[in-house]
Amino acid sequence: MLYQLSYDPLDMWSGHAPAGVRDPVVPVYGPTPGPDQMRTPRRGAQRWAALTTMTRMSAQHRVSARIGAIAESATLAVDAKAKALKAAGRPVIGFGAGEPDFPTPDYIVEAAAAACRDPRWHRYTPAGGLPELKEAVAAKTFRDSGLKVAPSHVLITNGGKQALYNGFAALLDPGDEVLLPAPYWTTYPESIALAGGTPVVVPTSPESGYRATVDQLEAARTPATKALVFVSPSNPTGAVYSPEDVAAIGRWAVEHDLWVVTDEIYEHLVYGSAEFASMPVEVPELVDRCIVVNGVAKTYAMTGWRVGWLIGPDDIVRAATNLQSHATSNVANVSQVAALAAVSGDLTAVEAMKVAFDRRRRRIVELLSAIPGIICPEPEGAFYVYPSVEELLGLELRGRRPATSAELATLILDEAEVAVVPGEAFGTPGYLRLSYALGDADLEEGVARMAALLGEAR
Ligand SMILES: Cc1ncc(COP(=O)(O)O)c(C=O)c1O
Repeated sequence: MLYQLSYDPLDMWSGHAPAGVRDPVVPVYGPTPGPDQMRTPRRGAQRWAALTTMTRMSAQHRVSARIGAIAESATLAVDAKAKALKAAGRPVIGFGAGEPDFPTPDYIVEAAAAACRDPRWHRYTPAGGLPELKEAVAAKTFRDSGLKVAPSHVLITNGGKQALYNGFAALLDPGDEVLLPAPYWTTYPESIALAGGTPVVVPTSPESGYRATVDQLEAARTPATKALVFVSPSNPTGAVYSPEDVAAIGRWAVEHDLWVVTDEIYEHLVYGSAEFASMPVEVPELVDRCIVVNGVAKTYAMTGWRVGWLIGPDDIVRAATNLQSHATSNVANVSQVAALAAVSGDLTAVEAMKVAFDRRRRRIVELLSAIPGIICPEPEGAFYVYPSVEELLGLELRGRRPATSAELATLILDEAEVAVVPGEAFGTPGYLRLSYALGDADLEEGVARMAALLGEAR
């Protein structure tokens, strides 16, 4: 049976499906009665009536309410649209995807190639991950963040995304509230809601560097609050919390018996004087109520290999592993062997990427800041800038008058062939997210096209 989204996913912000409101999936080819269903008139008529009713009700009932409520990943949608346009021959420049433009380092690829030829890796392996990879992740975690964990506290997952999904699923019951500072990465609220939890958005501002304070978090806390999502360096803002701020938030969580799901996937990408700090290291009393999420995607340019992990207390890791044993079984062994080579090696490759990212970070802030109407704070980590475009909204531009950042992003793609992600995807309309993990030449050309277009706004 074929299905079609009732709106263009590439047009997901421009009126058909405003952020947070999802159109249902409707069948294009609904069920039709086959000859066997018509064998006896009575039975056939009944079934036909039932099928007709089903078809009428299909928009609401064919897909479960739980899954039907999930929005498509906005960042992946932008990336897919940019790649589709490129494939069709359009000279699109994509600032949408959060992935390094570098190839995976050779020694990692070689380890994977050797694993392909070894029949040992052609079979099922333990659902929770290769024991040697869990051990290496435990060692790497101690090396990089100072958190001492046993391999039994590690669950290897299909990327950081599955670590988040499994972590929330293991932690949350219906009614549990999860504090989520905004701008937030687009996957967090969906993952929380899918696990039955309720995301409670805690707005932050550019003035505070998009960092949530203990006071803001405390104001949002209720008796139903179970957990906080914490990410530093942050996607989408690039904000980095100081070790003191990390400690203050961790102590507040301990004081109120809250869990913290802390996402450390950008741990190595901090610039200037900014410093990465791991919350359970700053506040060791939190360890029993903390889930650490991490992976190889960003550090080793391995987004396509799909290896991440969560680190947590025994009960959570056991529950999440049981879930994974039914959902996906082990992560592809070849990818796990590649990840083993990555985390067992040194950090030379990421240091080299970091130099390039830092150069691009300073350049993109300089270029965007020169565009009238754009205010671009300098991020301290990850590889994103998150400028405000509020001053441009409502102005006339190429015969249109974009009223939202979603409409502006669509216009920029249509008119300048530059893909950016609107702030609606991150819970804060009025902003755009640009990833600067793309080549220097593309960065220059892409922002120049935006400047030329936006300079016409009146
Ligand atoms: C903050 C954050 N956490 C987790 C992930 C998940 O990464 P992956 O599933 O590719 O390992 C991403 C990817 O964009 C991210 O930005």
